[in-house]
Amino acid sequence: MKMKKSLLSVVLMAVPLFSHAKGEIRSGQLWPDNHGVHVNAHGGGILYHRGTYYWFGEHKAENTSNAMVGVMCYSSKNLTDWKNEGVALAVSDEQGSDIEKGCILERPKVIYNAKTHKFVMWFHLELKGLGYRAARAGVAVADKVTGPYHFLRSQRVNAYRYPLNVTESEKAAMAKLQPKDYAEWWTPKWRRAIEKGLFLQRDLSTGQMARDQTVYVDDDGKAYHIFSSEDNLTLQIAELSEDYTFHTGRFVRVAAGGQNEAPAIFKKDGTYWMITSGCTGWEPNKARMFSARDIMGPWKQHESPCVGPKADLTFGGQSTYVLKVEGRRDAFIFMADIWRPKHPSDARYIWLPIDFKNGLPVVEWRDEWTLEYFKVDK
Ligand code: GAL
Repeated sequence: MKMKKSLLSVVLMAVPLFSHAKGEIRSGQLWPDNHGVHVNAHGGGILYHRGTYYWFGEHKAENTSNAMVGVMCYSSKNLTDWKNEGVALAVSDEQGSDIEKGCILERPKVIYNAKTHKFVMWFHLELKGLGYRAARAGVAVADKVTGPYHFLRSQRVNAYRYPLNVTESEKAAMAKLQPKDYAEWWTPKWRRAIEKGLFLQRDLSTGQMARDQTVYVDDDGKAYHIFSSEDNLTLQIAELSEDYTFHTGRFVRVAAGGQNEAPAIFKKDGTYWMITSGCTGWEPNKARMFSARDIMGPWKQHESPCVGPKADLTFGGQSTYVLKVEGRRDAFIFMADIWRPKHPSDARYIWLPIDFKNGLPVVEWRDEWTLEYFKVDK
């Protein structure tokens, strides 16, 4: 009996090492939900609505990264205790559906439209069996924040539209670019052509490719879709329609040829900050950072915001979202995923506070921290 008791106390003492003790955020550890099961909401984002945070993310299966369930939703008032609200957007059993079970459905983000009172979910969609060739943006809507979300459509975006940030003469030069003249990839000549819009021109009639993505609602209620386009070589920022379910055709290219993925955006004191990753699939790489005074640019590139040990590999993770904490001053959380492609559901989360030093966002690893890190907003 005595022996059992001491064993039990050892086990109890060990628990905080592997899970989230009350109020603590422990990046890289298992994060049990209200059923004690690791949160399954990867490549996710968070919507704050009427006093509650809703975390939406990819449900990942044990042994495949394809979507077998859909988008999960979890809710929380304190950002550490998460209640499983179930499947927000379910993949379809119908053969040939755009979101057929087994498709690739990544990086879902939900925004609320105050005019239509609808919740709008955007995500990166790859049709079943086509690998990453489709490169589509998918959209679904719901009347209730937790869902069910009804799939509307998926498509490439802004067909026949040129970006706002090209001049007439650049447009004319772009129109002459032909992929057959640049058959050999990664040469300096090819890179220059990419920067000038080789792939944008190639995709003009089908619409632009849309892979890693996020959506952002600005203070004036306008929403923007930010995504890796042009074979993941160039980011595009595109304005969404008033109801947030279409693209208006107004968009800009950002960091042409810069190979950015995993965009996460936030705004502080009138400056937009965007943290991204490079393109190395499930392997971590060094984060990048950009800023702008206008969301449609121009955007300026900075050093990675990550500092300290393992900063060069974004602490083993890849950005997914920056969360603004309500009721705390200048409180933003950098959210990233530590992917485990051999055991996708075991992928872990990185949540770290963003500091501001000399006006620049800075992210440093912390084994554990609480929201007390941020000052209460008075
Ligand atoms: C990553 C991307 C992920 C997923 C993965 C597939 O670069 O950010 O969302 O698409 O590639 O290899």
